[in-house]
Amino acid sequence: MEMITNVSEYEVIAKEKLPKMVYDYYASGAEDQWTLKENRNAFSRILFRPRILIDVSKIDMMTTILGFRISMPIMVAPTGMQKMAHPEGECATARAASDAGTIMILSSYANSSVEEVASTGSGIRFFQLYVHKDRNLVAQLVRRAERAGFKAIALTADTPRLGRREADIKNRFTLPPYLTLKNFEGLDLGKIDKTDDSGLASYVANQIDQSLSWKDVKWLQTITSLPILVKGVLTAEDTKLAIEAGAAGIIVSNHGARQLDYVPATIMALEEVVKAAQGKVPVFLDGGVRRGTDVFKALALGASGIFIGRPVVFALAVDGEAGVRKVLQMLHDELELTMALSGCRSLKEITRNHVVADWDHPR
Ligand code: FNR
Repeated sequence: MEMITNVSEYEVIAKEKLPKMVYDYYASGAEDQWTLKENRNAFSRILFRPRILIDVSKIDMMTTILGFRISMPIMVAPTGMQKMAHPEGECATARAASDAGTIMILSSYANSSVEEVASTGSGIRFFQLYVHKDRNLVAQLVRRAERAGFKAIALTADTPRLGRREADIKNRFTLPPYLTLKNFEGLDLGKIDKTDDSGLASYVANQIDQSLSWKDVKWLQTITSLPILVKGVLTAEDTKLAIEAGAAGIIVSNHGARQLDYVPATIMALEEVVKAAQGKVPVFLDGGVRRGTDVFKALALGASGIFIGRPVVFALAVDGEAGVRKVLQMLHDELELTMALSGCRSLKEITRNHVVADWDHPR
């Protein structure tokens, strides 16, 4: 295999290696995939204002997230069904994240259970929650995550129904028969049936509680003492509501452009959310982050950290745990280099003045 020199190269190799149905599920966005392209393109509208002749012989990238000290502000987003990429799936990802000293969020729709992931060893992990109609089931799942040592709940709030991912519809996407949604196994909900549609879209339509609302964020706090991150915020209005509802943090996310098409790139929505949060809770971002420069730009616009989704599944497909470790290492090294070349020795030295966005000076 040719030497991999950046995160995006894994996708090209993964595309050759994976069955079409699986690659399409991982790669696709919703409908016209405008937001999918925009999540990447928007980063190129932000340029650097680097400072020179600053002693950058020591760079500190450590940070603290919800009280947990981690090696860098780069974390792993929840992505479902990782065993389609590699037989070790989420457990390989968990080990790689832990080795890198960072946080992984495990998806509700993982092929490995919370207990299995916990048994891979130490590491700081959060649990992503999809709220099913059956609230007993939800409470049970949250308790299992808590017992397994997960440290926070990331409540996905942008998915009352699944976005229209046309490749999955064409492929009549379904989970291969030897895999299950492991957190639901034994509850008779582990399988995704083959339908005329995307099997996942049908599953979500049947199971997910479309009536989920802000009061349920409060309900969630009655069943768990874990901090709750609200994932899928794109506006100032919802930032305020999330804080009022008791969120411990906000993830600016458009679900990797897989839900509503023609929402802005997350990097374009970030500042609005950061301003509305007024420093009361940390704001994170995911969507299209592929370079250390992207991470720096997000931090300069006020994010406390970022999450990566697709790069992890593609690296997992190509090289398992080692691939995920390499993705995290490459982003770490690129961010460190970006900081050095911009004159920032620590994350708190990264400021809004280190970047200029093309919306800063309207012509
Ligand atoms: C996701 N995402 C996601 N989000 C979530 O809350 N629960 C989930 O189970 C999944 N599953 C999932 C599968 C796949 C294949 C993808 C690509 C994405 C969204 C994910 O957490 C994150 O928001 C995006 O992936 C971030 O964008 P990038 O880094 O993939 O561009």
